[in-house]
Amino acid sequence: MVPDIREQFKKQFGKEPLIAAAPGRVNLIGEHTDYNEGFVLPGAIDKRIYVAMAANGQEELNIYACQYQKKFSCSIKDIKPVKGWATYLLGMFFYLQKEGHALGGMDVLIDGDVPVGAGMSSSAAICSAFGMALNEWFGLKLDRMSLALMGQRTEHHFAGVQCGIMDEFASLHGKAGHLMKLDCRSLQYEYIPFNFPNYKIVLLNTMVSHSLSGSEYNVRRQQCEEGVSILKKYYPAILSLRDINLDQLQAHRNELSDVVYRRCLFILEENQRLLAGCSSLANGDILSFGEKMFQAHEGLSKLYEVSCEESDFMVEQAQLQKGIVGARQMGGGFGGCTINIVEYGAVNSFTENMCGTYQEKFNIVPETYTMQIEDGARIISSH
Ligand code: GLA
Repeated sequence: MVPDIREQFKKQFGKEPLIAAAPGRVNLIGEHTDYNEGFVLPGAIDKRIYVAMAANGQEELNIYACQYQKKFSCSIKDIKPVKGWATYLLGMFFYLQKEGHALGGMDVLIDGDVPVGAGMSSSAAICSAFGMALNEWFGLKLDRMSLALMGQRTEHHFAGVQCGIMDEFASLHGKAGHLMKLDCRSLQYEYIPFNFPNYKIVLLNTMVSHSLSGSEYNVRRQQCEEGVSILKKYYPAILSLRDINLDQLQAHRNELSDVVYRRCLFILEENQRLLAGCSSLANGDILSFGEKMFQAHEGLSKLYEVSCEESDFMVEQAQLQKGIVGARQMGGGFGGCTINIVEYGAVNSFTENMCGTYQEKFNIVPETYTMQIEDGARIISSH
């Protein structure tokens, strides 16, 4: 892919580029916990967004997206959110300038193989790759967490999704063969080896493209905040659902609407599942980890209500297959991919059977991806 991107850039802009790459992510367990100051367990994947760029000596940002064969141009003095992929690049550029960094006009080309709308965080990968590229080109010396937080700001204000920090964090901090247990309150993290050579992480794409912006995602966040504001009357010190335990939630169940109660319950249980899941991994007990994935899906579907018919079907059917250890919908929800842990020797029959059954039911052929956990964002060649 890299030689190709260099050639494409030279064809479009007639000069040698700097090239950066940033991956999408999987998340093993801990969904919707990040914006509730809980824990997540993502890993960076072997699918990436590539950014090639070079200065143009003007005050223009010219962007070409190979996947869409579309151009976008604007003045660097007048950057505003737009609809679609370009907004993620614009947001990063905007916030770097806003923080006082002197940037100049750039010619930029992006390409990649992170599927869009599949819950693998293609948008975070765009922000991270462009952030890395600008950081390197202008010698800004920003650390990776600062770039991740800038990506999150971009999602909030340039894409209208009130997301947590998980996706940007994972894209920038990934380490081959390791998951990251991130405390989304303190932003401290530890690398956890995912060393199960007899098992594979398989994603099955429902092909139901989830769109987080304007969707129920922001509503879920508000419902959690509503829960916190009601519980705060009794426990003034609480700042987020992180500070509440199950007994406290049950004690005030009647003061919450049923919907808000179920949202809060899911988050509390999901954090507990993640912590227990990390112990399972530390003990080498992948089977008990897998059970927690199934339980997580049940909660995502019934309590948090971010699943859909197609994802539910994928998980139910996965449960019937030989070699399956755990399965659940992954990411923001409402479609996208399910994440499955499957015995190595059963991967082919698993994907074949699942594709057949899914196609029979919905008349859609799902894409399947057998994942490697890889390193996070990096500069591939400097200018
Ligand atoms: C999306 C958001 C993340 C996180 C997940 C759900 O991927 O970008 O911040 O909330 O959904 O876990």
